[in-house]
Amino acid sequence: MSKISFPQDFIWGCASSAYQVEGAWNEAGKGRSIWDTFVHTPGKIANGDTGDLTVDHYHRYKEDVALMKELRLDSYRFSVAWSRVLPNGTGTVNQAGLDFYDRLVDELLANKIEPYLCLFHYDLPQALQDQGGWPKRETAYAFADYARVVTERLSDRVKVWMTHNEPSVTAFVGHFMGVHAPGLKDPLAGARAMHHVFLSHGLAAEAIRASARQPVKIGITLSLSPTHPATQSKRDIAAARKTDMGLNRIQLDPFLKGKYPFDEFPLIKVLTKGLIKPGDTEKMCCLDLLGVNYYSRSVVKYDFKVPLLQSAPVQPVGNEYSGMWEIYPQGIYELLMRIWKDYRPTAEIMITENGIPVPDGLDFDGRCRDERRIRYLQNHIAQMHRAMEEGVPVKGYFHWSLTDNFEWALGYGPRFGLIYVDYKTLKRTIKDSGRWFARVIQENGFEY
Ligand code: GCO
Repeated sequence: MSKISFPQDFIWGCASSAYQVEGAWNEAGKGRSIWDTFVHTPGKIANGDTGDLTVDHYHRYKEDVALMKELRLDSYRFSVAWSRVLPNGTGTVNQAGLDFYDRLVDELLANKIEPYLCLFHYDLPQALQDQGGWPKRETAYAFADYARVVTERLSDRVKVWMTHNEPSVTAFVGHFMGVHAPGLKDPLAGARAMHHVFLSHGLAAEAIRASARQPVKIGITLSLSPTHPATQSKRDIAAARKTDMGLNRIQLDPFLKGKYPFDEFPLIKVLTKGLIKPGDTEKMCCLDLLGVNYYSRSVVKYDFKVPLLQSAPVQPVGNEYSGMWEIYPQGIYELLMRIWKDYRPTAEIMITENGIPVPDGLDFDGRCRDERRIRYLQNHIAQMHRAMEEGVPVKGYFHWSLTDNFEWALGYGPRFGLIYVDYKTLKRTIKDSGRWFARVIQENGFEY
């Protein structure tokens, strides 16, 4: 065992998102979002769960900030619900909705916790969906306008602005796989949504810079996953390469190089034909901060039946699994090394999500002994540190998530929090992993 230490100014935080924790879905003038519609559509969410109340962060934010303080967090990454601020997506601003974020930001700052504000985490206003949603270019302009409204109100205090969380998930899981709202299964809609979500990042970045009341950092958070072929056969290797295009390069290339990888991925060229206007992709490449979300790797084999990527996921036998994925700590190292080697971003790099769903519960004495999460964190943070030692300047690490919460189509099944939530009473209990994380923050490292 030796001590793993982090730079003095390393940032430790936790992440969450509006729909997953806030509740108060129709309070204080909030409009409907596509997630409000989706969860109330029978059959879409496991167990018929909804985020109507979830962990009621909207009313309990002070208690949650106090818990963040107990965990010694430097930062908290949260998202703003667009439909709280602009109930119809555009037009009239709902001051009461903005007031909530105003109170939250003040509470964070009073406790010396830096707010990392994300403008979009999947919850498009339903009114904009009714007009065509992300497959329509107009939605990108509406997003930039919404970004301006929030910036004008909060940029005197908020210095870090993230435009989108996992834009490719918004596009593909929502419009092509149909698992997230709005629940479409249409490759063309997926590709159109992708381009407009990506474009909206660039347009919002311009709007934020133009209206910010102090110098700010602008970032985006991408879900990325190192991709491995199931075997060394030519076909599996080709399948892994295609999957890597679809999962990783399709995002990294525009945001870090200002262009799509069309030459190597002609399919996307076909699907986005006629959508891309001169200057669009150049606008996307404007990051001060690159957020990387890492959960697991992707192992794939060739499968001609699968549309677009012709590859199917494989679960390697003999490895360890969580409730949702294979546990593969080395992946965080591989990913960071690859980003550094292939892209050399000038933007700061941070891990903005990493975590594990395990079936936690309270023991007889009221404690949550989530040893598997502690092991997951030790191994992943150690692998991130390894990349840092090999030259990747990672500036921070955010755990997903602060509290247990609503896990999209899987409802309340998977628990990701450092804080256990009893969904009947909404009582919060810091898990052993939370205590462990607090010690890591205090010592800025740990024995490994
Ligand atoms: C996403 C998010 C989170 C998830 C987390 C666990 O990936 O969809 O950013 O909202 O809850 O990643 O799946």
